[in-house]
Amino acid sequence: MSNAAMEQLNLLLPEWLETSRLHTGQGKVASYIPELFKASQDELGIHIMNAEGNHVSAGDCGIPFTMQSISKVFTLILALMDHGEEAVFFNVGKEPTGDDYDSMIKLELVEPGIPFNPLINAGAITVSSLIGGDCKEEKSRRILEFFRKLANNDRLDYNEAVYQSESETGHLNRSLGYFLKHNGVLKDDVEDVLAVYFRHCSIEVTCADLARMALVLAYDGTDPITGNELIPRRYVQIAKTFMTTCGMYNASGEFAIQVGLPAKSGVSGGILTLVPGQFGIGLVGPALNRKGNSIAGVHLLERLSKEFDWSLF
Ligand code: DON
Repeated sequence: MSNAAMEQLNLLLPEWLETSRLHTGQGKVASYIPELFKASQDELGIHIMNAEGNHVSAGDCGIPFTMQSISKVFTLILALMDHGEEAVFFNVGKEPTGDDYDSMIKLELVEPGIPFNPLINAGAITVSSLIGGDCKEEKSRRILEFFRKLANNDRLDYNEAVYQSESETGHLNRSLGYFLKHNGVLKDDVEDVLAVYFRHCSIEVTCADLARMALVLAYDGTDPITGNELIPRRYVQIAKTFMTTCGMYNASGEFAIQVGLPAKSGVSGGILTLVPGQFGIGLVGPALNRKGNSIAGVHLLERLSKEFDWSLF
């Protein structure tokens, strides 16, 4: 998209955002991780960045929030970079589940008892165990370093309060971890694997950080602003496919129809999405719809996609 079109977006985006913000009242802020419940129901912010580093932003785009499940896209990529496709997909499948993201039902019912895909919790916990490193601290250090490179932001860090909050209350993830250990999928100490998983979910970003990370995916693994090649193209292709088929939980099909872009959401209300070869987009709106996605965020992305004909399909 040309810079002229960016200007058009600049004019229209604030008004569109305010229209979408009206939907926040119909959503719910996540409370199962108690610390997340402190977010404001009516917040909504977006940052859209192009390859020249120009950006358009609107609303509450400066507020920090934790990546939660959005981080799963990038830990998958790091595990692929560490071990390759064969090793990763020996332990995690490639199919959507149709179940909730924290469900363990298919682990028990479907042989060989490996998680269906890397974006559900069981899959992402498994991926955490595949990150290269001798101990949990080393694995977490490598993840944070990788995320900092992708966001081109050395100040990215954990939100300790969110980490502690999830670590203290993540009983369902603990059961998933122990079930995976029982099934022989996890080789390491379960508590160590969970610590790596909870840590990467608690990495704090702004919409601009997500937009920059998304921009790297939009340009097949190269940061178009610095020219740095950060991810092999094949692994970006795999990540974008999972984002399209499983990135918006059980609403991924509907999102593909309504928006038509690869995307990943998280329970803090963040959404990372991209227009291939054009934009990286970061968004936050903590009020979630019944499927667990930012209610106003999805509304805004539907509008943007329709007005600018962004759907890939
Ligand atoms: O494991 C959890 O429940 C959170 N740390 C992340 C959940 C989330 O964002 C939705 N998962 N797909």
